[in-house]
Amino acid sequence: SKLSVIIPAAGSGERMGSDIPKPFIKVGDKTILEHTISRFLEVPDVAQIIIATSKSYIPTIKSMFEQLSTDIQLDVVEGGAERQFSIYNALKLVSAECELVAVHDAVRPFVRKQLIEECCEVASNIGGAVLGVPAKDTIKKVDADKVIESTPDRSVLWQAQTPQVFQKELLVKAYESALGENFIGTDDASLVERIGGAIQMVEGDRENLKITYPVDLKVAELILGVGK
Ligand code: CTP
Ligand code: MG
Repeated sequence: SKLSVIIPAAGSGERMGSDIPKPFIKVGDKTILEHTISRFLEVPDVAQIIIATSKSYIPTIKSMFEQLSTDIQLDVVEGGAERQFSIYNALKLVSAECELVAVHDAVRPFVRKQLIEECCEVASNIGGAVLGVPAKDTIKKVDADKVIESTPDRSVLWQAQTPQVFQKELLVKAYESALGENFIGTDDASLVERIGGAIQMVEGDRENLKITYPVDLKVAELILGVGK
């Protein structure tokens, strides 16, 4: 089935502390966002890509679209104050022909085509799919004073990445429910979990890093062979 890809790129990049937002930082000859988009252009089922960005970057996105030669429908929408609101704005633009929607962070430029396709397959079958890897570190639950309360069993903990792929009606329903009840989640699956949707974890790889801190940018440069 046809896939619509929502790429949230409206964050301010506080943890990176750079002058320009992360998606617009260049790694090698392209911006991080351009690297990310190129991964989805390789996937035959992709029919639409929607970028959510801050108002001042909408012209930048439009001129970037003009450089791409593709049959894929390309749209841009203004983002919101939270990642979740950026995605909600984009959801309203999803093309009627798309039965599946993937949400993928602009700042995960190393996602592999085969894993995107695997997530789509699982989402088609059961409702939702999240790319992830088994938790690497031991995770601690702490209170407001950082006093450790407990240590969840690591063997059942996974780190959720993106893409997170869902059947369209399920994702729309989850977003509307979250919005109605003022629930803010840190990913899309958490919204779908709230309404009881079935979602399966798909094992990905650790190269699908999220560029968050300056060290991640250094790693990204090494992966692309442009390390300084
Ligand atoms: N994002 C968005 N709209 C927001 C916040 C985040 O579209 N209001 C996007 C970011 O641009 C990024 C993705 O969501 O591509 C993942 O968010 P994150 O890595 O947290 O990026 P930022 O929010 O920009 O960074 P920080 O949290 O450090 O400020
Ligand atoms: Mg953020």
